Amino acid sequence: QSKAAHDIAGRAPVIPVLVLDDEAQARPLAEALVAGGLPALEVTLRTPQALDCIRAMAEVQGGIVGAGTLLTPADVKAAKAAGARFGVSPGATDRLIQACIDEDLPLLPGVATATEAMVLLERGYDLLKFFPAEASGGAPALRAIGAPIPQVSFCPTGGVSLKNKDDYLSLPNVVCVGGSWVAPADRMAAGDWAGIEALAREARG
Ligand code: 3PG
Repeated sequence: QSKAAHDIAGRAPVIPVLVLDDEAQARPLAEALVAGGLPALEVTLRTPQALDCIRAMAEVQGGIVGAGTLLTPADVKAAKAAGARFGVSPGATDRLIQACIDEDLPLLPGVATATEAMVLLERGYDLLKFFPAEASGGAPALRAIGAPIPQVSFCPTGGVSLKNKDDYLSLPNVVCVGGSWVAPADRMAAGDWAGIEALAREARG
């Protein structure tokens, strides 16, 4: 589980966090982000169209599409069936973790405290999502958690932007960050795929 998650998270410094309500946008969006250098994409299961969007994006060459906002075992099953190759969750429960093991879906489970990180480390997870990153103390909090628990790495998301991403990425315990800023709703609605590709390239740095 963790080895596969490391492989996916290590491919680019930013994982776009996508909230999609129009299936027609899925493919050109994925193509733009991959062309801009961001191959790992998280489609959040927050809209009725999310699973169809995952299905469409899974066909894009060079992309690795995952499902975010996994809350229940049913979410995990549906994400896997739609073609998701990894999962992301805002927190972690025993049932969710077991479902990801059963479905063989690498999981990036969310934590916000040292205790939560220790519980998941005991279960073999050494790459975690730090969520909600900015509201939980931001880069200084992750630096502080890294002092006693350096063997755990993080992908912070929630309030991460072009402006603060390097505060996180400069920490030794941060592998990548997640954020929605590379796919703004207005640009998607306008079909501005070239603009989104440029945002991806800028995020990639
Ligand atoms: C997430 O689901 O990881 C966050 O909601 C993304 O947060 P952002 O919109 O602040 O980037």
